[in-house]
Amino acid sequence: MTTYNLNSFGILKKYKNFLEPKDLPLISMGEGNTPLIEAPQLASITKANVYLKLEGCNPTGSFKDRGMVVAISGAIKENKGHIICASTGNTSASASAYGARYGLQTIVIVPESNIAKGKLSQALAYGARVFAIRGNFDNALDLVKEAGEQLNVEIVNSINPLRIEGQKTAAFEIIENLGNSPDMVFIPVGNAGNITSYWKGFKEYLNFSKSTKTPNMMGFQAEGSSPIVNNKIVESPETIATAIKIGNPASWEGALNAKKESEGIIDSVSDQDIIDGYLFLARKEGVFCEPASAASVAGLIKLSKNGFNFSGKDIVCVITGNGLKDPDIPLKYSGIDIEVINPNIGELNKKMEKNEFT
Ligand code: F0G
Repeated sequence: MTTYNLNSFGILKKYKNFLEPKDLPLISMGEGNTPLIEAPQLASITKANVYLKLEGCNPTGSFKDRGMVVAISGAIKENKGHIICASTGNTSASASAYGARYGLQTIVIVPESNIAKGKLSQALAYGARVFAIRGNFDNALDLVKEAGEQLNVEIVNSINPLRIEGQKTAAFEIIENLGNSPDMVFIPVGNAGNITSYWKGFKEYLNFSKSTKTPNMMGFQAEGSSPIVNNKIVESPETIATAIKIGNPASWEGALNAKKESEGIIDSVSDQDIIDGYLFLARKEGVFCEPASAASVAGLIKLSKNGFNFSGKDIVCVITGNGLKDPDIPLKYSGIDIEVINPNIGELNKKMEKNEFT
């Protein structure tokens, strides 16, 4: 038999000894092992060493794949035929992909409006049953919890502990890349599963790696959807960052615990901060992410402007999802008009305001 040198081993195989339970089927679509890149422009405004963890490089374009591969492996082990999730888009895209690949019928419950086009397109392409509810994400999650109790389906939202297990592997990778834990991790917060996972990962890997410390976890919600910051459920959350438009996060306690134990913060950023951070990332660092992902960078810029001293610190911003997920945003906020011209060099030359080519 020919042995191929495939590089799609994924997190289940790589971190087999660090994931519970230990006897899960080792399925993979090549998730994890995402780039950690330097962010020189952010470094220059903060005087810190800033790195971006590009989770949009996962197979379905977001960090969800790390947790989903573990949750799906669990569903396969339990012989479940159906999986179900509520989603602002990325969880549904990820569940649908793994469901398709491993022969599980995927049921997706999304809020009727405000699902970014790229994410909805993924669920449709992968062949999921998609139900749009008259309500928001929190209502969708309530329905999914009821379905989990009454129907023979496996819930693959982050209330499934296997999701949290898988997502903690991003912290392992950061430690491996930097040779230690960073001083701070900036991360967007929606349902709060990811901040819970990262914190678990940083703590657990202390004993098994070169890591000698744990980072301050710096979580950022969107201002109009900031229940944790205000310590109050938001009945009608609002934000341009639809991925984190959540008023009653399932892992609320996990986020508070991460904040407390790590001596971090949970703060909010405005939609304007998010768009500014989004355009900064794209135009200064060449990184195209979705709006929710930019909340991490927007948080860093906000604190820096407020006089926070980051000098000399190692800082990681988690860039949770790919920009192509939400293609309407640049069309609306880029500030660039597409000019229609004839295919004529004279006309092109005339259109150029400055003499850029000479
Ligand atoms: N960034 C992106 C791109 C997301 O899709 C999400 C959550 C978050 C950040 C926040 O992560 O919920 O663990 O705090 N998206 C979920 C979904 C809710 O349904 O796709 P969290």
